[in-house]
Amino acid sequence: MAYRLPPCETERRRLVLCTRPLPLKPGSRCSNKSTLFTSVRGSRDLVSFSFTHTPEETCPARAMPSEEPNGCSMELKEGIDNSTFQDEESGDVEQGCAPEETAPQEDRDSGFKQIKPYAGMPKEVLLLYSSQPCYRLPREILFWLTIMLTLALIALTITVIALSPRCLSWWQSSTVYQIYPRSFMDSDNDGVGDLRGIKEKLDHFEYLNIKAVWISPFYKSPMKDFGYDVEDFREIDPLFGTMQDFEDLLAAMHDRGLKLIMDYIPNHTSDRHRWFQLSRNRTQNYEDYYIWANCSRTKPPNNWVSIFGNSSWTYDEDRGQCFLHQFLKEQPDLNFRNPRVIKEMNDVLHFWLEKGVDGFRMDAVKHMLEAPHLRNEPQVDPEQPPDTVDTEFELYHDYTTSQPGLHDIIRGWRVELDKYSREPGRYRFMVTESYDYEEIDKTMMYYGTSFVRESDFPFNFYLLYLPKYLSGQGAFDLVNLWMSNMPEGKWPNWVVGNHDKPRISSSAGAEFVRAINMMLLTLPGTPTTYYGEEIGMENVNVTEIQDPFGKFDPNSTRDPQRTPMQWSAAENAGFSTNKTWLPVHPDYKTVNVEAQKNESESVLQQYRALSLLREAELALQRGWMCYVWSDKDVFAFVRELDGLSRAFLVVLNFGRDAVTDLSWVAGLPDELTVHMSTRYAARGERRRKARLETARGEGLLLEYSTQRRLNSNPAFKCFVSEKACYLSELDILYKC
Ligand code: GLC
Ligand code: MG
Repeated sequence: MAYRLPPCETERRRLVLCTRPLPLKPGSRCSNKSTLFTSVRGSRDLVSFSFTHTPEETCPARAMPSEEPNGCSMELKEGIDNSTFQDEESGDVEQGCAPEETAPQEDRDSGFKQIKPYAGMPKEVLLLYSSQPCYRLPREILFWLTIMLTLALIALTITVIALSPRCLSWWQSSTVYQIYPRSFMDSDNDGVGDLRGIKEKLDHFEYLNIKAVWISPFYKSPMKDFGYDVEDFREIDPLFGTMQDFEDLLAAMHDRGLKLIMDYIPNHTSDRHRWFQLSRNRTQNYEDYYIWANCSRTKPPNNWVSIFGNSSWTYDEDRGQCFLHQFLKEQPDLNFRNPRVIKEMNDVLHFWLEKGVDGFRMDAVKHMLEAPHLRNEPQVDPEQPPDTVDTEFELYHDYTTSQPGLHDIIRGWRVELDKYSREPGRYRFMVTESYDYEEIDKTMMYYGTSFVRESDFPFNFYLLYLPKYLSGQGAFDLVNLWMSNMPEGKWPNWVVGNHDKPRISSSAGAEFVRAINMMLLTLPGTPTTYYGEEIGMENVNVTEIQDPFGKFDPNSTRDPQRTPMQWSAAENAGFSTNKTWLPVHPDYKTVNVEAQKNESESVLQQYRALSLLREAELALQRGWMCYVWSDKDVFAFVRELDGLSRAFLVVLNFGRDAVTDLSWVAGLPDELTVHMSTRYAARGERRRKARLETARGEGLLLEYSTQRRLNSNPAFKCFVSEKACYLSELDILYKC
């Protein structure tokens, strides 16, 4: 049948409408435009659309382009290959789509007018539509809607990331355990501990659920200060083993998921260090590696004194000048104002970071810089004859500690450590050692700021003073001192013993060891445990003094807290079969790891239970701490986490037997359940908050369930470092 095209479609490249369902066969009738457009999506070679309308019927005047008065709004533009189009003259109009039988005019009219833009349309056809005024507005709206939704999505993502609780890093979630390597385990039976010995005892850390181990220095050293006088920062002292032993130890630790923290001693080297030899000879580039000053053999450059006593200056015959040593004369101070020294010491960091160590404890950092003017330091007692001043406590250390520029050096180390912290799970940790006593703000500066980080935390030594202030109030004061001075968002930490201070079991009394361990492991932040504290080891009365500090002042000797670890009831407490470098405590037959493993309520068992609990309970690991009580006997605080109903009340008795009434604390239920007591109460026993009994030296850990949180009540003083809300639906925090 002859097919007549409207005038607007007489040119080639016209769109002809087919309303027949697909697949289109020659001669078939088209009736469904939707199906048709779906079929042509993505095709530049459009099928022929048969048009049965007359020109007048199909081209409503309002839709006609102005330059084409008789045109059709369906015209295809340049670039559309409508090669299957057949015009009237060809006489082959049925190819692609059959001409429809002449339909009633109104049907045909409405079929054409119903064509609307459709998602399956080719782009070009859509563009044709979208330029029409009636589609411009929706198009604009759609465009801006899309932009706004995208922006909202980005903002939402950023907010969720910023507000989501962070997983704790390894140095936050684990206790740090300090090993004094001379005294931990002797593998070759020479009476001194060594690296292989440590490797033999790695099970101990798994037993205690400890993942981070700090080992005091094992560098090559003449041992004047038992390793804190380093002769070579890149070698292991033969007493401790070989570099291979170190690498084996590190690999074995990493295999077990343990992190190794090394001691880094920047302030000084041994006088046997190559740098010092080169410096005293004035070898080029090395002249200023140390602090040299003109002096005579008998008269030092100023009144500065060493931490270990007497002048901090020693005359060097080779160089004809005095060198500074803030510790022993065999420990000359490096000159950190010399960029070469900074570079050398950074290279030392890189050396060990490359080996894979996980962090550093930075030794004696406050001593690193001295005032270049070398003026006398003011005396504490101005009346004291100057030539009798020979201990650090007789001077104000205005020119030898915490000098401007110190924190730049520490920030520099942080940068170096961060370079090695980029891989997931490989964060390199830094803790600084600085005793600032009552000047706590100086200690806090080692945290850095929220933007410029320094150490992850400076050691918090304030609990070392607990024996001096032993009471509930004393414990509260020391805890609060740290918490209320710590910069916001920083992570607390607690130290109750180390190789420089008497063991707390001796200074506070053995009866308080358990409560002190409970406090250490239930306070917010990272606990540090000095080897032996987990079994309540005590100081040993050492008659043959080894410690150089003790040789200067027997009252300051550090030998008593450095005696061999007590592993078993075997000879020398299972530490060594040879004569040990310091005597073993006579109580080792009963106070040892093996015995305490077999005793259900031992100090060791309780330490272990608390360590496991600290990991298992989010409230203890990262929750709020709110003070609820302190008096001369008792210090009590709550640990709770937003979103979590289980919470803990810790009651510590550092005085006499006491009954504490907490009935006024509305957030606590009337009855709480004993989770653990270091004394008599059994797990599961119920205790009334109105009558909480604790014995002298008892630590009581009570568990309860509540929907009311103390931290939302301004009447309570509460602290949190990493804010988090537990959502049981997501359970993210437990999967960290
Ligand atoms: C630190 C160490 C101490 C050592 C001193 C000198 O204070 O803890 O043991 O004697 O530095 O390096
Ligand atoms: Mg040995």
